Amino acid sequence: MQISPSILSADFANLQAELDAIRSADWAHIDVMDNHFVPNLTLGLPVVEALRKVSPLPLDCHLMIDDPDRWAPGYAEAGAESVTFHVEAAADPRKLARTLRGLGTRSGLAIKPNTPWAPYEDLLPDLDMVLVMTVEPGFGGQSFMADQMPKVRAVRESVNRFGGEVWIQVDGGVSAATIEQCAQAGADVFVAGSAVYGKDDVPAAISQLRSLVEAHARP
Ligand code: DX5
Ligand code: ZN
Repeated sequence: MQISPSILSADFANLQAELDAIRSADWAHIDVMDNHFVPNLTLGLPVVEALRKVSPLPLDCHLMIDDPDRWAPGYAEAGAESVTFHVEAAADPRKLARTLRGLGTRSGLAIKPNTPWAPYEDLLPDLDMVLVMTVEPGFGGQSFMADQMPKVRAVRESVNRFGGEVWIQVDGGVSAATIEQCAQAGADVFVAGSAVYGKDDVPAAISQLRSLVEAHARP
């Protein structure tokens, strides 16, 4: 059970201090948006390179960008420990997943709320993580989509059948009120933006989320 706070809700003028504030988490979730795949624009490779130099946590890069086949390997080369791209944007997801692993990073595949899981099940041998979006990607602070829980269950069943160690991440609207249903459905990596950085006591928010999911840890 791992917690990956999203810096999308952090103070962008003080990112080094904001990364230090979440050092009790497992990952720092970095939302890269290109104003094409999603309507919003955040940060790109030069900022990720700079964050890598100062982050006490491994970087969990979530690329909400067009043409990840071309751009995602650069994030692995920049030292991101996990790089997740969207299947809706990738021309050759299997090849890209293999390329990322070849660069020494974990390969993650993200699926939007309206994208079904079944067509991609056979990619599992090339993946380290599947990210089931629980909001439409693009913005922090949106409402959790509980109707994505059956998809989390379906991914969990696929992973169990496959038998390999593939993590299942949920991202969007994850909070103290919603995190337990994600864990019950089979998720094991939890992204939270506003539910961490929106709180006065950030370390307390992380430990609250952690204790809520640890009760649901699988053996
Ligand atoms: C949304 C991003 C999320 C976002 C989550 O497109 O991928 O990582 O920061 O923010 P909250 O937790 O506030 O929904
Ligand atoms: Zn994200």
